[in-house]
Amino acid sequence: MDSHDARPALAPLAWNADTAHTSIIMRILISGGAGFIGSHLVERLVADGHRVRVLDNLSSGRRANLPHHRQLEFIEGDVREAADAACAAHGVDAIYHLAAVASVQASVDAPAATHATNFLGTLNLLEAARREGVGRFVYASSAAVYGDAELLPVSEESRPRPLSPYAADKLGGEHYLRFYGQRYGLAATAFRFFNVYGPRQDPTSPYSGVISVFAERIRAGAAVTVFGDGRQTRDFVYVSDVVEVLAASLANARTYGTVLNIGRGVECSLLELLSELERLTGRRARRRHEPPRAGDVRHSRADVARLRAAIGYAPATPVAAGLAALLEAQDAERASARVSAVSPSAISSGP
Ligand SMILES: NC(=O)c1ccc[n+]([C@@H]2O[C@H](COP(=O)([O-])OP(=O)(O)OC[C@H]3O[C@@H](n4cnc5c(N)ncnc54)[C@H](O)[C@@H]3O)[C@@H](O)[C@H]2O)c1
Repeated sequence: MDSHDARPALAPLAWNADTAHTSIIMRILISGGAGFIGSHLVERLVADGHRVRVLDNLSSGRRANLPHHRQLEFIEGDVREAADAACAAHGVDAIYHLAAVASVQASVDAPAATHATNFLGTLNLLEAARREGVGRFVYASSAAVYGDAELLPVSEESRPRPLSPYAADKLGGEHYLRFYGQRYGLAATAFRFFNVYGPRQDPTSPYSGVISVFAERIRAGAAVTVFGDGRQTRDFVYVSDVVEVLAASLANARTYGTVLNIGRGVECSLLELLSELERLTGRRARRRHEPPRAGDVRHSRADVARLRAAIGYAPATPVAAGLAALLEAQDAERASARVSAVSPSAISSGP
């Protein structure tokens, strides 16, 4: 047994319901912080005054997603490596674990490879939390754990029926969170994200969320691929709403030891999504239908009653407003890319 194992179970005092306040400045590790959702969370927690460390191997995330800030530290490392997880967890008060190969399809294509990140990576970070005496652990699980739900909206009480290696790994991670909570007193929360969308979701990745891909292709005049008939539904939730919930849960004792859905509680079909994008962009989408993909579920809608009870509200940004904000952010990004593409010599070479 090494010296770490002799440590007492986690520091519960900092996470006692009476003593934990969001106003306390914390040292927080965000794994996967250079990715889509992670980078928005980084911005929010830094703005709240916390000291944030990011652990990311940049496999799908980007350094450019992260702000330059003296309260932000970046470690390029891998959750599959126990040593990287331990180093990143050293000295922090809380961990948000978002690092993952965030794709059902990738897990179907390469189950063993994605398992190493999505399952063992989670276990490595939990173990690092225990050894380093970290009190709080927030885990990005997924609505994929429900599989094809028998009843909608789908509540946390529903029987999980994972249909893909991705979903099985996320569910396995939740079970391990429960174990570490019960055995070591870790204040752990698993959030089952529904379909998150917003700026910085990489539209060039074949595995990316459908909204970023659709938006990019419609604007480029390219055909959009719809798997199946397009009548499958999802509960789309805007990234700022997700980040708001994650930030609010940091020191909220009602969320400790629980599994909570993060969705809006509203279904939207892919066809409805396409029409909304057509309306907002003023362009017609050229649709190409392909057979449904393995592991994809037919319908999905979150029951958000438990989330409301825990934090007092549920995400509310309507899809139309979220899409408009996304398109605006994409425009701003393009404009700033154009400005930085103009070299100083080109600027000074006027008549
Ligand atoms: N986007 C969604 O709709 C959605 C839905 C359900 C769950 N989730 C979960 O939320 C989390 C964030 O997803 P996202 O959409 O921001 O995806 P993302 O791909 O943008 O972010 C994942 C981040 O993890 C990093 N990463 C991957 N493997 C790693 C490894 N082995 N070690 C260290 N870093 C690694 C990537 O580089 C990336 O920065 C993931 O856990 C994902 O499974 C997302």
